[in-house]
Amino acid sequence: MQTVLALETSCDETAVAVVQFKGGKFNVLANCVASQAAEHSQWGGVVPEIASRRHLENMPLLLKEAFSASGIAFSNINAIASTVTPGLQGALLVGSVTARTLSCLYNLPFLGIHHLEGHLSSVLLSDKIPTPPYLVLLVSGGHTELIMAKKNFKYERVGRSHDDAAGEAFDKVARLLGLAYPGGPAIEKIASNGDSKSFAFPKGKVSKPGGGFYPYDFSFSGLKTAVLRTVESINTKGGEVPIANIAASFEQVVAEVLVERSLKYVRDYGLNSLVMVGGVAANARLRNLMEKQASSQNIDVYIAPKAFCTDNAAMIGSAALTRLISGTTFSSIDLGVSARFQLDQSELLYKIDEPPF
Ligand code: KG4
Ligand code: ZN
Repeated sequence: MQTVLALETSCDETAVAVVQFKGGKFNVLANCVASQAAEHSQWGGVVPEIASRRHLENMPLLLKEAFSASGIAFSNINAIASTVTPGLQGALLVGSVTARTLSCLYNLPFLGIHHLEGHLSSVLLSDKIPTPPYLVLLVSGGHTELIMAKKNFKYERVGRSHDDAAGEAFDKVARLLGLAYPGGPAIEKIASNGDSKSFAFPKGKVSKPGGGFYPYDFSFSGLKTAVLRTVESINTKGGEVPIANIAASFEQVVAEVLVERSLKYVRDYGLNSLVMVGGVAANARLRNLMEKQASSQNIDVYIAPKAFCTDNAAMIGSAALTRLISGTTFSSIDLGVSARFQLDQSELLYKIDEPPF
């Protein structure tokens, strides 16, 4: 049995979790999240300076809350983990410094976790766990990627968005429709009363220099512009903007494009399973369409539990436990934080003598 304390502060969610690996299963003993979304909402997006300050203020209370919810004593913790990259540097530092301080004080190993490996590990917190190799559709506010997850933490990015991430598109479209930040949940809510067939928005494609299109890549900026033009043209004519119908049509086209291109990769490369994780994977229309289409093509689909799709520390804990179980040595106490770092380089986070940043 192994138990980790995990911290996540890469963006605007301060999160602390206690996760245990016991009898071949990951158990989330505590999962505390303090979202700053309401505060950032008034600025239309995340303000880094505010995010860092709120993480600092929230951290002591969240740690207290997580321990009391988990029902376990600090002396039962085997390791401390925190997200170290990618993300807002000032924000990342709060989790990383807290984790490293506790690690030094209590002489416990420290593991720096790549945020995307955290998202990938969120699917392990479900009852149905995939075995590599499998394709992962990672759809969040910062990333829209197709990643081949192979054995022993080997990752290969095989598709990506060339402009906005899907979550970013949700946030931008919500803003131009006058909805709250974060846009995903706001669009999902209003779209449930709309007709998804009322507007035919484009499925962005990415051209190859020599002709044709990249079959597994995405582009959402044209879609966002199409929604903007639609709203502008209705406003010019003095009409009332049918927000619910626009939101539903937008949500539908995003879901279709994500599902179609991911399943095409799975089929083209003779794989059996697909995993879907990240904040946008919380979207019910996307979850339903993915499950329906995958099952009609005999593809096994594993979607992270809704509660662990948006940023949380339980997924950081499951990533850390997976590393611990596999015998990964720990991170250096000198490991800092980095705004960017490739997922396929995440092994370097465990180089004790030469941390990458
Ligand atoms: O994974 P996440 O919490 O943070 C990043 O690592 O980026 O993802 C946040 C993104 C935001 O853009 C948000 O609008 C989107 O996920 N999101 C959703 C939903 N819930 C969150 N998008 C669509 N439908 C949702 N229900
Ligand atoms: Zn995230």
